[in-house]
Amino acid sequence: MDLEVFIGEVADRIVAYLNAADKPGRVAEPMPYSTLSKITDLKIPLEGHGMDAVLDDMDTYLRSCVKTNRPEFMNPLWGGVSTVGLAGEIIASLTNTSMYTYELAPLATLIEHTILKRMGEIVGFEDGAGTLTTGGSNGNMLGMLCARQAMNPSSTQSGFDGRTMVAYVSSEAHYSVLMSANVIGIGHQNVVKVACDEGGCMRPSALQEEIERTRRDGGVPFCVVSTAGSTVRGAFDPLKDIGDIAHANGLWHHVDAAWGGSAMFSSKFRPLMDGVEFADSVCWDAHKMMGLPLICSAFLVKDSELLGRLCAHGEVAHYLFHEESKNVDSGRYSLQCGRRNDALKLWLAWRECGDAGWAKLVERYMELGDYLESKVQEHESLQMMSSRMWTNVCFRFSPKGYEGNLNELNSEIRSRMMQNGNFMVSRSNIGEDVVIRSVITNPKITEQTLDNFLSEITRIYEEVVRGMPSEHPYPSS
Ligand SMILES: Cc1ncc(COP(=O)(O)O)c(C=O)c1O
Repeated sequence: MDLEVFIGEVADRIVAYLNAADKPGRVAEPMPYSTLSKITDLKIPLEGHGMDAVLDDMDTYLRSCVKTNRPEFMNPLWGGVSTVGLAGEIIASLTNTSMYTYELAPLATLIEHTILKRMGEIVGFEDGAGTLTTGGSNGNMLGMLCARQAMNPSSTQSGFDGRTMVAYVSSEAHYSVLMSANVIGIGHQNVVKVACDEGGCMRPSALQEEIERTRRDGGVPFCVVSTAGSTVRGAFDPLKDIGDIAHANGLWHHVDAAWGGSAMFSSKFRPLMDGVEFADSVCWDAHKMMGLPLICSAFLVKDSELLGRLCAHGEVAHYLFHEESKNVDSGRYSLQCGRRNDALKLWLAWRECGDAGWAKLVERYMELGDYLESKVQEHESLQMMSSRMWTNVCFRFSPKGYEGNLNELNSEIRSRMMQNGNFMVSRSNIGEDVVIRSVITNPKITEQTLDNFLSEITRIYEEVVRGMPSEHPYPSS
């Protein structure tokens, strides 16, 4: 098959996949691992099958994948896909480079610098630095590593004993802070989970108490990680108050804004992030609310030199980094060697919509969150399980007079919803309670989608409580 025909075939599949999201269909065709592995030809051949066969393999893949661009996909903190972002991803792969030196990625480097500068300005780190990372998890790790570097500048050279160093996070923080504690060498047990208020926001007074307790116990506090948009409830910690406590105690303040960072685009919701400008570092995922294809994630730091010192290991790489390009090579600010060009897709999407486009997107998502919340509140058997600050809508069935176990009921409803494949939402916990967490972060979601979602979930609920048979409203694709 010649190049043009092959690429044309691939392009047809891309267009068909994108268009299918606007037609009735299912998000997923759930199938057990064992069944999927039996019915799919996965063998790696000794002799290749050729390009025609690869197109069939693509069709097999496209048929069985979860359709994350469908409006009914409301499960993780990302969904849908920016068309321009997708085009950027394709062009970045096409031009296959690595983001360590200007020499290898000239315009990509300028684009990445532009993106990081702009994101830094939005945060309030006008003279800061940053890097695009492999995600918010690694952004949190970099934040904690910078905190370690600030407290113990020789640690990159001499190593260090982290057994007394203590970091503080909200009790609802993302699990990546534990991974970070492992990697930077303080261990899980040195992450203190600070109590939250009823809405899931870290309580500043509890933070102060925990810091004092650590000191009494002989520990060395070094870092506070706030969450701006928590994973389950979308809660924003009070950044200003927490930052004040962190700094008054000489601690680094990192803000995990992987999920909530996009609030900064909207003058209406920017106050959720008040105080971020006083933080020391921030991570912010553009692959979440901004809809860029995974991965697209920024780590931003106020003290640009500190990040450079942390990543000084590159100095020995004479085969890559040279003195004359010292000021322009992005690899000097990264823990990675080979690094994807994630800047291009973000830059293109940003050029397409401008700050105003992101603000509109955020405000529309919040409007839809309000809509879903109001429908939940109107429904006689549904109960909101948390106050709402962001687009996470956490609720559950809690019918009056129901005598069974509500956790089992809601788990069963969600599990049947997954089996049907018509909608995808997350099952999470708030305290001891199982909740259904739906998230608005997909440009295809409308009020109609949310109405359909509630009718579908109510239908399943009735089926579970009354033992009625299931009917699929949509045909199998
Ligand atoms: C609050 C928060 N921080 C960090 C992360 C990790 O981000 P990533 O998946 O980009 O590593 C998540 C993921 O959902 C998150 O919810």
